[in-house]
This record gives sequence, C-alpha cells and structure tokens, in this order.
Amino acid sequence: MGRHITISPITRLEGHGQIDIVLDDDGNVEDCFFQVVELRGFERFLQGRPAEELPRITPKICGVCPGAHHMASAKALDALFDVTPPPAAIKLRRLFLDAHIAHSHLLHFFALGAPDFLPGPEAPKAERNVLGLIAAAGDEAGRLVLRARGHCQRIQGVIGGHPIHPVAAVPGGMSKALTEEERDTFLPWTSEIVAAARLGLDVFREHVLGNERYREMITGDVYRHETHYAGLVNDDGHVDFYDGRVRVIEPDGSELACFEAADYLEHIAERVLPWSYLKFPYLKAKGWAGLTDGPDSGLYRVNSLARCNVASGMATAGAQAAYDELYETLGERPIHGTLAYHWARLVETLYCAEAVHEAVRAPEITSPEIRTLPTATPAEGVGVVEAARGTLYHHYETDREGMIKAVNLIVATVQNNGAMGMSVKRAAEHLIKDGAADDAILDQVEMAFRAYDPCLACATHALPGQMPLRVRLCRGSTVERVLVRG
Ligand code: MG
Ligand code: NI
Repeated sequence: MGRHITISPITRLEGHGQIDIVLDDDGNVEDCFFQVVELRGFERFLQGRPAEELPRITPKICGVCPGAHHMASAKALDALFDVTPPPAAIKLRRLFLDAHIAHSHLLHFFALGAPDFLPGPEAPKAERNVLGLIAAAGDEAGRLVLRARGHCQRIQGVIGGHPIHPVAAVPGGMSKALTEEERDTFLPWTSEIVAAARLGLDVFREHVLGNERYREMITGDVYRHETHYAGLVNDDGHVDFYDGRVRVIEPDGSELACFEAADYLEHIAERVLPWSYLKFPYLKAKGWAGLTDGPDSGLYRVNSLARCNVASGMATAGAQAAYDELYETLGERPIHGTLAYHWARLVETLYCAEAVHEAVRAPEITSPEIRTLPTATPAEGVGVVEAARGTLYHHYETDREGMIKAVNLIVATVQNNGAMGMSVKRAAEHLIKDGAADDAILDQVEMAFRAYDPCLACATHALPGQMPLRVRLCRGSTVERVLVRG
C-alpha cells in the first residue's frame, strides 16, 4: 500500500487547485496529478445576451487577465460584425494590451515567481514571498516595481475606462479617444516601466543565472520537456500580443502549422479527463497521446517561452538584445527548459515596456478617428490575442438579432494544462525519494507549475471565489499530510 502526498492549496498562482502525489511502498513517486477543482460556467450563461455586451462581461472571468479578455472579445466582435477598426483605434488597443501584459508579467516575476530563487526553496515559508524578495533585492527595487505596475494600471484605466473592469472597446474600434492631456500624463511614466523591466532582467542575471544550482535547474532534466509550442507571430515574425497568425512548431523547431485565428478548430481539439475540471487541448495533427512529451504527442505549450520559441525576434531594440542573450546563453533553439519561462517572460516585459514607451509618443495615438461603425448583420466571429499566459481564443455565434447562441473560450492556461501535469509529475519523481518530501522539496515541485504562471480563474472561467491550492501526501487511500499553502 503506497502513500499519498497532497499539496493543497498550491500557492503563488492565480486560482486554486491541488497537487496529488501517490507514493509506492518504497516511498518513490508512483503517480502525480495537477488537479483543478473550480466550477466553470461562463460559456453557458453568456448565451442569450447581446453580443456587444461581451467585451464588458468576459473581463469578469478573472481579476488578473481582464485586459486580455477585453481585447480578445473586441476582436471577436470586429470579426462578428465584419468591420475593421481605424489605425488609431488599433494603436490604442495595442497600447492598452502591452501595458496590461507588462503589469501582469511584473506581478508574476516579482511577487509569484522570483521568491523561488530569491530567497529560494530552502528559505522559511514566511519569507518565500514578495516581502522576502524585497528584503533580498532592496526597498528601492520594490518601490520601482510597485510604481511601474501602478503606471501600467493607470494607462489601462485611462484607455479602457477602468483599470480592472475595462469598457471602452466596441465592435469597429474604441468608444473614447485619448486626449492630448491624458497622453501627456503618460509620458513621465514610461521610463519607469522600462526601468522596472530592466531590473527584472538584472535580478534574473545576478540571482538566478549567477547561481550554479539554479542554472542547472534551468538547463537540466528535472524541469525539461521537449514539446510543441504555439503563439501569435506578426508578418515580421516577431512576438505580437495583439495580432498575427498562430504559429505552431515541432520540438525540433520546424514549423508544423501557421494559421488564422478563425481556423483554430481545424488545428486544436480539447480532451476531457475525469479528474480535473480543466480540459486538455491538443494538436489535431498529432492526436491525443496522453500527458507525454515528444514529437508524437499532441501536447503543445503556450505562454512566454512558447512565444519566443515560435517567433524569430522582438520588435523593439532592447528586447531584441535580451532575446538574443536568452538563446545564446542557453545554446538551444527552441529552448525546452521549463524554468526558462521566467527569463522569456522578462524579455517580453521589456518588449511591452518599450512598446508602451514608443506608442504614447506616436502622434496618431490621440487621433479622434477611433471607430468604424458596423453595418453588417452579425453571424460568427473569432478573436485571438496573446494574454500574458498564452494564446486566448474567443469564438461567438449569434442569431439574426445579434443575441449570443454559442460561445467557446480557449484560454491560455488550459493549453498548458497537460504540460503542467507532466512537469509536476517529473519534478516529483526526481525530487521525492524514499518518501522524503519536506517543505523545500515540495516548493521545488510547485516551481514546475509556477513557471507557467497559470491562471486557474481564467482556465475554468470560474465565478469569483476563494483561491487556495493544497498538496496532499497520501499512502494508498490514507491521507498522511495535508499542507495548506496559502
Ligand atoms: Mg472553453
Ligand atoms: Ni486570468
């Protein structure tokens, strides 16, 4: 009879879930499940509502990713009403989304991800958080990051109408132009956003790359999976959060597919497994082979490292230099080390910061030409953007009165669901020996999912609720220890 470890609640992620680790009689890992136990419901209760309400309802799916849902929804409505927004509206949407991504990435690195390295897994649990990080990195660093996040939120608030509940995007563009006065308030903020992004890269270089053990964790086997990757790339082949085609690559880096958002159902299918509320998307071209990696498995990964892997570079100069440093240092392409997601996230943070800096200085950003009025009868539309956590699909169908008949949402985190399950299992298998699983080891198991920056609120499209994550250690059906990590 084996024993059973449960990590529950798992912490420093958005949403709640648990990790179940089953040990055999010798105390080695027999099986491991990354479980998500929230209730979903958004796709159902959106039915019957006027389509144009969805950009204001779908951001309520999640308090961390509302900006991404607002944009994906607005783009789905553009497609639904067959209308192209004017250039200034697209520039405003891009500025809004890039500020959103910068804020989300800064939050993840400094508050959620970095405490795994600074102070590190062996530090007392009470210090393995943003306060422990600030104690190690310094007060001024902490203040800069908080100010930069605030600037990003305020930019979203001015453009979107509210920093957390955006309302401004409408089919065919935006409902409100940016005034010269509003734009002028942004100008002094953007250099601090760029500075915070550069600080993230400096902290990573010094405290993660400069530490031999952490470097081994990034490049070694415990956190490695050779998988497919997917993400948006634009016509220049660059990472693009707002628009482009979805590019999918093989584990060896060759292109498997490059498709328009509207064609996603030809390429992606979803599998349901009995032990999780999260579905498991996979590539139709490869088929479902379970939670396994390699070229014959349909599993693919999204989020920061996937975007960098499918692209050929970044559209801004500083981010391009950081991108080159990432690939030259790790010496492989695509990069398969899961903990490199943190580094790629910081490269993207710098890209978004530089893009925001440039966008607020573009003269057209204050143009009053912000909407093309739709005239078509709506029928069906797909909108896709890159959310912080990966590719986000909104797909709507309406009746002839424009009322929603069907909604399909495939959110970023869901696409990493299978990979997170594999990663947690592999880490547990390598790290737990003879039943020894102290707090530092369990934190290193959690590091396997935390690199993916999962948002389980988005993933289950859950109504707001408590967000704890647990780890249970069990022997057979006997729960031996329950570690509440909230
Ligand atoms: Mg869905
Ligand atoms: Ni979310």
